[in-house]
Amino acid sequence: MLVNLKEIIGMAEKGNFAIPAFNVYNIETVMGVIDAAEELRAPVILQVYPRLVNEEVGFYIAPAVVAAANRATVPVCFHLDHGPSEMEAIRLLRWGATGIMYDGSVHPFEENVSNTKHIVDICDAINVGVEGELGHIGSVNDDEMEEFTDPQEAAEFVKRTGVCCLAVLIGNAHGHYKKTPKLDIDRVKAIREATGGTPLVLHGGSGIPDDQVKAAIKAGIRKMNIGTDVCCAFAEGTQKTLADPNRSLAVDVFMKVAIESVKTLAMEKIKLVEADGKA
Ligand code: 13P
Repeated sequence: MLVNLKEIIGMAEKGNFAIPAFNVYNIETVMGVIDAAEELRAPVILQVYPRLVNEEVGFYIAPAVVAAANRATVPVCFHLDHGPSEMEAIRLLRWGATGIMYDGSVHPFEENVSNTKHIVDICDAINVGVEGELGHIGSVNDDEMEEFTDPQEAAEFVKRTGVCCLAVLIGNAHGHYKKTPKLDIDRVKAIREATGGTPLVLHGGSGIPDDQVKAAIKAGIRKMNIGTDVCCAFAEGTQKTLADPNRSLAVDVFMKVAIESVKTLAMEKIKLVEADGKA
């Protein structure tokens, strides 16, 4: 069933686990994640990067995500990841999204607050939850990380914007880490406390050691994003098929191993964040 961000995050809050949020890129990645969620009875978020919305790949993927979510027997939220402006948010809402992230972390604090509040006002009108970002979460290729999220600023940000969950910078980055990351778990606790228990979001979930993921969830992470690992699983599946001399070139058959590979990865992550059996 298709559910909204507030509802699915509420499930994680109640059960002290995190919702795995998988970035999806095509119908095969959608199929792999949904199969995993069904098999493990897990609530999941399927999210798309704004470039998919901009390039209108979303025009094809969005109906597939919505159809998959409507048919699923587990809760599924369709979410915009790192929306940079109102345009992407409105377009994806029109295509059926039930969660929106507005990422104003590259802007100064006041601008981030007012832009995020504007998106929250739009989404409130149709009861869609908004994820904000404070403390810019960069790429593993950046020379250095920005300043980690400040708990007091986070408290003010949440109060003034009304976001239903907040992405924080605590030593995480997007992509496969070049060296083992070290998450600032005490900061997660401090942000949780300062914000009165706001559900927090961990971006850059590909490659964070399991023990750190578990500690972060214990401290208040309620959504974990996984993007790069989905791409790798899909690519590995495809390579396996290419190496098989008996492979079928019929595209639907050709894709079967890649779908299975995404499913296996999604099952691992669902178990890691303890979302299995929660639907
Ligand atoms: P990874 O690609 O590092 O898993 O990060 C995904 C993410 O945080 C998407 O917003």
